[in-house]
Amino acid sequence: MFDNILTDDFTPPKTCTVERVTAVKHWTDTLFSFRITRPAAFRFRAGEFVMIGLMIEGKPVLRAYSICSPTWDEELEFYSIKAPGGKLTTELQHIEIGDGVLLGTKPTGTLVHDALIPGDHLYLFSTGTGIAPFASIIREPETYDKFKEVILTHTCRTGAELDYGKQLVADLRKDPLVGELVGDRLIHFTSTTRDETQDQRGRITDLILNGELFEAIGRPILQPATDRVMICGSDAMLRDLKQIMLDKGFTEGSNAAPAQFVIEKAFAGEGV
Ligand code: FAD
Ligand code: A2P
Repeated sequence: MFDNILTDDFTPPKTCTVERVTAVKHWTDTLFSFRITRPAAFRFRAGEFVMIGLMIEGKPVLRAYSICSPTWDEELEFYSIKAPGGKLTTELQHIEIGDGVLLGTKPTGTLVHDALIPGDHLYLFSTGTGIAPFASIIREPETYDKFKEVILTHTCRTGAELDYGKQLVADLRKDPLVGELVGDRLIHFTSTTRDETQDQRGRITDLILNGELFEAIGRPILQPATDRVMICGSDAMLRDLKQIMLDKGFTEGSNAAPAQFVIEKAFAGEGV
């Protein structure tokens, strides 16, 4: 069981602060999102991840989590899996408003504007919880200063797993701060692979290669001259999509050497 109280006399590990849960929403049996307080000194770049955790049986258990919030948010939002048998999420899925959560002090990551050179269109390819960093990027005004159009794709096994992303985009379009800036410059493309829904059918890799993605959104096929790409998903998805990017002549970027596409794991597994 986790210690959800974390009273004021509790001293967190050196690289963490204790924050309070302000909201929790369960989307499916395996997915939920939550919001926590944000310390005044906590700074991050849109698209970065940070360590999040709980005290479980007297020990800190911390895992990497993409920050879904844009940098202007007064709180911090996260979108989480409930991994079967997972040490952290078996407990984290039970958090309630007012509970204490450990927040790391050093956000980092490669899905950031600094790792891409300028372009016209920003493609954000995600599967599963890989949409989390892009929830931050699409709500960040800098994104629309840098790119003419933003294309967010989200592919999941079932239709219900797309709901967080759909709500996110619907809320963004109505947002008093950035809704007008976003206007019709954000395209949201959804597909499922194991469920018959109103969404497109198929893996994003196949939909890129057979051209169905570009037909559906009415845009030219991906090209390194004008397009920039961020990718977040499972190891298998990253491996296959990275190869497609390389075959198309895109160069991979990093914080130290910005280029045309960047990738990051949505969760740890085998290396890419
Ligand atoms: P673990 O022991 O970590 O994992 C148990 C099993 O579940 C493993 O087999 C693992 O492959 C699988 N798994 C873990 N995470 C996921 C996932 N997200 N989707 C599908 N299967 C998964 N997780 C999130 O839910 N949201 C995020 O925003 C997020 N961002 C991450 C960013 C980075 C850079 C990395 C490396 C990981 C991220 N993760 C994210 C994964 C997260 O760190 C944990 O693995 C997750 O919270 C499960 O922790 P656990 O201790 O319960 O289970
Ligand atoms: P599929 O159902 O065909 O495996 P997961 O939950 O396993 O991370 O998968 C999330 C989504 O990513 C699913 O729609 C899955 O499709 C898709 N996916 C899995 N592997 C790949 C891959 N190698 N390339 C592209 N998409 C993938």
